[in-house]
Amino acid sequence: MDKKKLSSKNLKLAIQKEGRLTEETLELLRKAGLEFESYKQKLFSLCRNFPLEILYVRDDDISGYVEKGIVDLGIVGQNILNEKQPKVRKLLNLRYGFCSLVVAVPKESDISTIKNLNGKTISTSYPQSAKRFFKENGISADIVKISGSVEITPALGIAEAIVDLTSSGSTMALNDLRVLTGIYDSEAILVANEKALTNGRKLLVDKLLTRFKGVLAARSYKYVMMNAPENILGRLKEIVPGLKSPTVSPLVQKGWISIQTVIKEEIFWETVEKLKKAGAQGIIVLPIEKIII
Ligand code: PRP
Ligand code: ZN
Repeated sequence: MDKKKLSSKNLKLAIQKEGRLTEETLELLRKAGLEFESYKQKLFSLCRNFPLEILYVRDDDISGYVEKGIVDLGIVGQNILNEKQPKVRKLLNLRYGFCSLVVAVPKESDISTIKNLNGKTISTSYPQSAKRFFKENGISADIVKISGSVEITPALGIAEAIVDLTSSGSTMALNDLRVLTGIYDSEAILVANEKALTNGRKLLVDKLLTRFKGVLAARSYKYVMMNAPENILGRLKEIVPGLKSPTVSPLVQKGWISIQTVIKEEIFWETVEKLKKAGAQGIIVLPIEKIII
């Protein structure tokens, strides 16, 4: 156990102990410059270079801890927020941990639309989300709450359909299930206790938020360097929308320049192709570690 026990001065952040969000959450915290030890069986870690305690808990417990103020912050799936509807403040979509809550039936089942689920038994770990969905769709089904391995319940004869999370789809495929329809999509979210944003901790929360945003922004941009004849600079500026004031330096070769700029990841390839076509040469692309906004 760490020498310094949980102290009230530090910010507290709850993250998933083991599961779909754990690895990428730890990676995000490290990229945000936080230094801490983490290994299995650990209950909490204290950051060496930021007044933050990281608590490792079950994902289902995170939103409750944040709501009650046991911790100031939590990183939790939108799926848990939709299911439990805790009174917490959403601060940031973290762009990982993507998955969807779906309705699925055995591949061989003759159920072809959700209307066929009237009067059927459906097992799920997301009873509130399932009830809401079927109610909105005017379907009366018997929802049975199961805490784990929902995907095997149709084969066991417990249910005719399930409502469960899917991301890669491999669990569904392995269990001979087919998706009938989606209910909602989910990703990791940074949430805060309402009071943590009004008391003296707000400054620390803001600092952390700026760091997380910096990591996310860096992920969605690439740093690009290229050479081009001076006379096409105007055309290149049209191609790269963010290229309002690129860094331009002259090359030894007369009439040629070197340009440095950033390009959005989503439009990266099409932009680079256009730049090449317009006459840019020697295009070099570098990952960005952080962008401070
Ligand atoms: C969900 C779901 C499946 C799996 C689907 O569990 O219950 O088991 O993920 O993922 P796949 O499509 O990539 O195979 P989750 O990771 O949320 O675990 P938990 O229910 O124990 O929290
Ligand atoms: Zn869970």
